[in-house]
Amino acid sequence: MKLLILGGTAFLGRATAEEAVRRGFDVTTFNRGQTGPDVAGVEALRGDRDRDDDLAQLTGRSFDGVVDTCGFVPRVVGKSARLLAGSGAHYAYVSSISAVASWPANPALDGEEGRPCPSDAGLDDGDYGVLKAGCERAVTEVFGDRSTIVRAGLILGPHENVGRLTWWLRRMERGGEVLAPGVPHRPMQLIDARDIARFMLDSIERGTPGTFNVTGRAGNATMGSWLADAAAAVGSDVRLTWVDDDFLVGQDVEPWTDLPLWMPPGQDGDHAWHAETAAAQRAGLTTRPVSETVRDTWAWMAATGLRSDDPDGRFRNNGIAPAREEQLLEAWRAR
Ligand SMILES: NC(=O)c1ccc[n+]([C@@H]2O[C@H](COP(=O)([O-])OP(=O)(O)OC[C@H]3O[C@@H](n4cnc5c(N)ncnc54)[C@H](OP(=O)(O)O)[C@@H]3O)[C@@H](O)[C@H]2O)c1
Repeated sequence: MKLLILGGTAFLGRATAEEAVRRGFDVTTFNRGQTGPDVAGVEALRGDRDRDDDLAQLTGRSFDGVVDTCGFVPRVVGKSARLLAGSGAHYAYVSSISAVASWPANPALDGEEGRPCPSDAGLDDGDYGVLKAGCERAVTEVFGDRSTIVRAGLILGPHENVGRLTWWLRRMERGGEVLAPGVPHRPMQLIDARDIARFMLDSIERGTPGTFNVTGRAGNATMGSWLADAAAAVGSDVRLTWVDDDFLVGQDVEPWTDLPLWMPPGQDGDHAWHAETAAAQRAGLTTRPVSETVRDTWAWMAATGLRSDDPDGRFRNNGIAPAREEQLLEAWRAR
């Protein structure tokens, strides 16, 4: 199998490149060489997918599969799709559940329409989810049944480059009383990048057509279960204090980012963890236990020494400062 990965050096693309090399595929990655080291064993092409002269390196090449992990602008995605149309490839495009028109006001069911967005939209023509839907169209208009659209849910695992689980794991390492947001039994859906990678490569090998919600089964974790997994992985002495959703909202704690993965009910939160995955499972998606993802992520952080370089320990925009957490816990006790 000859595989092209647009991207391939950070997180999901990296996991895909590693899995493809492991399967013995002949792997080419295409990226600007800014984000991370190349995976050993790949042919690494350097270029910006938004530049025609860079993309020209791919002209006339033949591939059995393309995995596109870094498409955010329909016009740009359409350009590479058209250029690769004659390559003979099956195209797997990494979209997001955010592309689903009815979500998060309603559950993201299988077969839902994407948000309205033309396939030639530019960067300023919509938000992340709108543009992802336009990118899906840019791919399917060219590749039709030779495409697999992967509407990914919340992705975790080694090499995570967002700062979600990585923040929580370093927080657990610090130990002591930890502010746990919301309620422990709230069902969530989490997926490991390595499981999405396997699904995409299987889909390419089998030529699976269609659009799939690709995430963990409903309730494959709860806030309580994966925080417990995180504490166990790190082996620190922590005490979780569960603090009400409403209280945190009242204290202007920012859902999703201040306390990563926390999404209180109401508005966007009611169906945040409600994506149907039956179609993906029928097409072969299998997912590992979240506890394994958490353990492996910690092992990777420990091996690489990954830490935040922010004085307050935040990873990118994720996490809260220790002083703010203490102040919230004090206010919670005094209420
Ligand atoms: N994280 C989540 O929970 C989540 C949830 C749903 C969906 N998703 C989707 O999953 C994907 C995650 O991607 P990832 O970061 O893990 O993929 P990745 O392939 O591991 O990393 C992104 C790659 O794209 C390359 N790249 C970026 N801009 C480029 C450009 N203009 N031209 C050529 N290469 C470019 C980067 O390298 P250079 O910078 O060196 O070029 C890097 O290799 C995204 O599409 C995201 O929307 C994520």
